[in-house]
Amino acid sequence: MSTSCTLVIFGATGNLSQIKLLPALYHLERGGHLGPSMRVMGFGRRDWSDEDWRGEVRDTLGEQLRERLEGEVLERLLARLYFVEGDLTDDAGFERLARRLAAESQGSDGDAGFPPSLVFYLAVAPAFYGEVADRLATQGLNHPEHGAARLVVEKPFGYDLESAQILDEQLQRHFGEEQIYRIDHYLGKSTVQNVLVFRFANLLLEPLWNRNYIDHVQITHAEAKGIGGRAGFYDGVGALRDMIQSHLLQMLTLVAMEPPPSMDAEALRDEKVKVLRSIRPIPRQAVHAQAFRAQYRAGESNGARVPGYLEEEGVDSRSSTETYAALKLYIDNWRWRGVPFYLRTGKRLGASHSLIAIRFRHPPQQLFSDTPIEQLKPNWLLLNIQPNECMRFELLVKQPGLTMRTQTERLDASTCSIGRDQIDAYEALILDVLSGDHSLFLRSDEVEHAWRVVDPVLKLWATERDYIHTYEAGSWGPTEANRLFDKEDQDWRNGLDQ
Ligand code: BG6
Repeated sequence: MSTSCTLVIFGATGNLSQIKLLPALYHLERGGHLGPSMRVMGFGRRDWSDEDWRGEVRDTLGEQLRERLEGEVLERLLARLYFVEGDLTDDAGFERLARRLAAESQGSDGDAGFPPSLVFYLAVAPAFYGEVADRLATQGLNHPEHGAARLVVEKPFGYDLESAQILDEQLQRHFGEEQIYRIDHYLGKSTVQNVLVFRFANLLLEPLWNRNYIDHVQITHAEAKGIGGRAGFYDGVGALRDMIQSHLLQMLTLVAMEPPPSMDAEALRDEKVKVLRSIRPIPRQAVHAQAFRAQYRAGESNGARVPGYLEEEGVDSRSSTETYAALKLYIDNWRWRGVPFYLRTGKRLGASHSLIAIRFRHPPQQLFSDTPIEQLKPNWLLLNIQPNECMRFELLVKQPGLTMRTQTERLDASTCSIGRDQIDAYEALILDVLSGDHSLFLRSDEVEHAWRVVDPVLKLWATERDYIHTYEAGSWGPTEANRLFDKEDQDWRNGLDQ
């Protein structure tokens, strides 16, 4: 597929651009994935020339990639960069942008000029999405005369169901659904995509992948770090919106979906939407039985004392924003009815990892009850998303020796613990946007149904602001969260080994 287009980055000097987009573009350049005519136009408030921005990018990439930076690749990337000064809230910058795009599309000195297809990447606060879309439309850039236009937005898509619907209306006033690329960067992680390959390229698991054999599913995203300097974004948003509504529900859809008729974007997204629509709505009176929230207090992380959430810079000292959230969901379809899906995320937990853990049921007959084997441990299938990619089966085998005892054996996929040159999610996602592949992006109905799942919880929590459970930083969260479990023998897996 052709990547020949002009990529316009709004917020070109911001954090996302510096930390993710530019390094991803560099790696795509190095891999030879960018078409020769592709151009990148930065848009930002600084009064910069093209050369100024190139200098800035040179420094940024130098800092980020250090000795891995290859001079010749860098020069190739820099030669594609241009800059337009502009403010998101002012038409003047957008006029300049339109004029520059029109002028450069003519080309000069034998140069073919900027490709006419435009990709607008909104690496700016979501509050500006609607306004930027409006201003682009005023300049006619949403439907350029030659070529196509695409709009890329990042989560969060709204704050709750209602605001997500409003945002969508704002975008869709000027851009059709087929022009919009909503990023959930988890879908760009190769280990997350591997869930699909693992499920649908192997016949072995399919007969077991249902309510008859699976006891429950856990999806955990744990972070050892706190909120860092992100209080401005995080306070008032919280873990349920920040992680569960998007990333964790996306992982859930991949684990639970039916095989699509093909791997094309619509077929895939149809199946994901079906899963979200099958999730049993949580009635208000069941919120406390199915959802749990808490906030970290001071503790120890990686051997150092760390402050509690309320002491973090920029956080309101009376804030009841959750930094930990856990949710129990049921998918009311033929495959999954009655199987709980436990989703959990938190900041300042014992370690950083993302893990999908699938626990199988016990065998139907207790054949070993007359032996010293006290209780059979269940089989687990563990899909570790990060930091290292790993698939592990836990099976029971007989211990060597004369007595009948069992021990858990681990069958590890050979990718475990191998330090590999991981591809960043943004490389995959940018390449897909440039080549017009929607498979790894959220469709508007997908976003809406994901909000429908968490909305009842958010609504009730919003009314209960005077108390929130706490947990010590560096711990695995409050034990009270265990009340979500359906059975006494269910418990959280805190990583591959515990
Ligand atoms: C972001 C959240 O979407 O994902 C952050 O806003 C979170 O709070 C991050 O830390 C986690 O992403 P990753 O790729 O580091 O696991």
